[in-house]
Amino acid sequence: MKIFKNKSKLKKEISKDKDVCFVPTMGGFHLGHISLIKKAKRFKGKTLVSIFVNPRQFNEKRDFIKYPRNLKKDLTILNNLKVDYVYLPTSKDMFNFRTTNKIYLNKFSKTLCGKTRKKHFKGVLDVVNRFLEIIRPKNIFLGNKDFQQLILIKKHIKKRNIKTKVIACATVREKNGVACSTRNKRLTHNQFKIASNVYSYLKNKKKSPDIFKLNYKDSLFKLGVSKIDYLEILNLKTLKKPKKLNEKFSIFIAYYLGKIRLIDNI
Ligand code: PAJ
Repeated sequence: MKIFKNKSKLKKEISKDKDVCFVPTMGGFHLGHISLIKKAKRFKGKTLVSIFVNPRQFNEKRDFIKYPRNLKKDLTILNNLKVDYVYLPTSKDMFNFRTTNKIYLNKFSKTLCGKTRKKHFKGVLDVVNRFLEIIRPKNIFLGNKDFQQLILIKKHIKKRNIKTKVIACATVREKNGVACSTRNKRLTHNQFKIASNVYSYLKNKKKSPDIFKLNYKDSLFKLGVSKIDYLEILNLKTLKKPKKLNEKFSIFIAYYLGKIRLIDNI
């Protein structure tokens, strides 16, 4: 496994590789990250994983500072998974060049997480656009857990005619149903249990004929949720509110347990 902190050296190394499979991350690995990397390994070509806690996508400095980092453990995991390349850029390496492509921020960025986290998706697309220009991967692997991010990256790639294929990967969950997340590390035992109850509650709601009434915020508060940023149902293709039960839709939620913000789509 080769580790790079500098884009020129990385570019030189991978210039001979035709098919690079790229998994961008912010580290603090859990089973979700691992499933993406394992999937990338099954594709043809070399596997490249980046670890970079991107300051531009955090709305609050406090959240950026508190973001769980565990580089030593992450590198052991990557080594055991036999990843070919790891890119650990510094902020300077990431941001000290002009990109060819301008970021395309589709209007879908204004809904869901975009309502409360104003600069978040601009920050995500900025960094992903930079990674794509440095690496020029054949495939990029992204989790469905962050559905809005996945869609916005897809739309940017299409709009800017970038020749990278987006491979969407299923959400990995803990045994109690909670979607694996780096932020779970900051939950207390009781909060983790509440998160599990929220998941079961929404999963059951999805099966009920009164799903579209969306009058179940109070029940979530009763379960122990501190605050709800949004609770919305969207058709997965049109990204609009569905009208019929036979449409393909998911329930999207962002909520707080104490100071920890969790997102999911069920
Ligand atoms: P991060 O939160 O580290 O997530 C890296 C990738 O793992 C993303 O594609 C995310 O959707 C995926 N992922 C997270 N939890 C998952 C789960 N439970 N199951 C499956 N996949 C999961 O997302 C980011 O980093 C950043 O925004 C990034 C794209 C790296 C840009 O900075």
